[in-house]
Amino acid sequence: MDNLRIAVSGSSGLIGRALCERLVASGHAVSSVQRVSQSDSAATSGGAISWDPARGLLDPQQLSGTDCMIHLAGRSIASARWTPSEKQRIRDSRVRATRLLVDQICQLDLPPKTFISASATGIYGEHGAEEVDEATPRGHDFLADVASDWEDACLPLVQRGVRVIHPRFGMVLSRDGGGLAKMLPLFRWMLGGRVGSGKQYWSWVALPDVVSAIAWMMVETSAEGAYNVVAPQPMTNAEFTKTLAQQLGVPAILPAPIWGLRLTLGEMADALLLTSCLVVPRRLLDAGFKFRYPQLGPFLATEL
Ligand SMILES: NC(=O)c1ccc[n+]([C@@H]2O[C@H](COP(=O)([O-])OP(=O)(O)OC[C@H]3O[C@@H](n4cnc5c(N)ncnc54)[C@H](OP(=O)(O)O)[C@@H]3O)[C@@H](O)[C@H]2O)c1
Repeated sequence: MDNLRIAVSGSSGLIGRALCERLVASGHAVSSVQRVSQSDSAATSGGAISWDPARGLLDPQQLSGTDCMIHLAGRSIASARWTPSEKQRIRDSRVRATRLLVDQICQLDLPPKTFISASATGIYGEHGAEEVDEATPRGHDFLADVASDWEDACLPLVQRGVRVIHPRFGMVLSRDGGGLAKMLPLFRWMLGGRVGSGKQYWSWVALPDVVSAIAWMMVETSAEGAYNVVAPQPMTNAEFTKTLAQQLGVPAILPAPIWGLRLTLGEMADALLLTSCLVVPRRLLDAGFKFRYPQLGPFLATEL
């Protein structure tokens, strides 16, 4: 593979750090598109490009001639209770920030050839036990609306001739951050168990497969549009928590009651823990992408 010039926003995050590490190790020149207020960025090889999405500041010339921009930035959806102002921050950090990037890139004579912009399986909303793939219509709750507008913010780039790809990530699993890292202490103290009825589907994916899928999208020039980035074997929450407990060698005896979750987390409990969505990575599988960790047990055995 040729060495590419790549810019990554959100490079200090869970996915960004692992991705930059892999890209730098592969010999690519990687620049981090870094918020001016932040100094905690991933190890990159091509320097830093400053932006201030909250104040609408970015110098697009620094992105001119880039082979690929990978846009992962967005305020964590699980860092605070979803008050109206927190929901606005979650939305603005994705939709407004993406519009800024896209508007600026559209003005370049040499825009990035490829633009990979993070999205989420939350775009589908609640689907019970019905199988969901990329052809499934978008949902209509808070997260679905945010993800939908986030993806649509990239449409001017498509019109500009840039190859645009939206990896729709499921729950990304890593011991270093995200949902799994939050669950681990509870399970280790034997306070973990199924969430609510446990019948809701959780569409998970191992972090190494997320990194590989993004790297594949970068070089597979026929890839464009939305791709579900989830393991090919989604599980109910009860199966997930049972597998996690088995791998840790602890019992999963304490189910978290729905009323308690709603009391503690508010609306976030329904959106992140109780919503059911059985997502399949149809387009990745059809394209021949091979998951290193299609099953949860073997991934947890190496990760924990
Ligand atoms: N992890 C998952 O399970 C999952 C699932 C579905 C979708 N996603 C999406 O994939 C993307 C990357 O996920 P991640 O897990 O790596 O996220 P993360 O660990 O929360 O990192 C996101 C990065 O976005 C930047 N950021 C934070 N607040 C921001 C704000 N207010 N405005 C602009 N940028 C801000 C930060 O990077 P800098 O400080 O370097 O700017 C941060 O490190 C996110 O957009 C997330 O919504 C993740």
